[in-house]
Amino acid sequence: MIIAIDGPAASGKGTIARKLAERLGLPHLDTGLLYRATARALIDHGRGLGDRDAAVSAARGLALADFDEAALRSREMSEAASIVAAIPEVRAALVELQRRFARRPEGALLDGRDIGTAICPDADCKLFVTASAETRATRRALELRSRGEKVDYGAVLEDIRRRDERDSSRAAAPLRAAGDAMVLDTTKLDVEAAFEAALAIVEAATRRRARAAL
Ligand code: CDP
Repeated sequence: MIIAIDGPAASGKGTIARKLAERLGLPHLDTGLLYRATARALIDHGRGLGDRDAAVSAARGLALADFDEAALRSREMSEAASIVAAIPEVRAALVELQRRFARRPEGALLDGRDIGTAICPDADCKLFVTASAETRATRRALELRSRGEKVDYGAVLEDIRRRDERDSSRAAAPLRAAGDAMVLDTTKLDVEAAFEAALAIVEAATRRRARAAL
């Protein structure tokens, strides 16, 4: 079973992905971390975020086990990640790692922007998680504050709108729902309700898959 979860920044897809993976016992790859870690490596090596060659070698050299997740989730790294993620060669360098993860014999759950459209177009279940920009900014501001970052709501809302625009308008694997994805709008849902709605979608896909195998 391969589950693909996509959606814009702070839509709730990460939380849904983690909880679903735990419930279903599936290995989970948060693919945003790959772009965040690529950007981090460029900054650490004093290279510009638009330096294609350096970005491609950084992407090729990633070691999942070394990720410092808390540091990668800062506001600065969100912005930097979306800049390197628009470089087609960086995306190409990360495709195989993601597909290898998806091919694990026990199945896999991946979340990101292009899992259902580009990385795993044949996934058994595709979810596109979204919410209004204002709701997403409120959630992200709370999350960043809980990590100790001093942020104001207006600036976070602006970040989110800028990143939505960059992620949706880039030529390489832009953010969009796959034609066969189920769209889940979490604007009015709390974490538990969003998770229950996502689980119901996955269970329906599992039943469809079982019927198809008969
Ligand atoms: O948690 P949030 O949704 O804010 O960010 P993320 O999922 O960690 O992704 C950070 C950035 O990486 C996004 O703004 C995208 O530009 C990029 N990304 C991507 O292009 N493709 C993916 N599969 C995952 C992330």
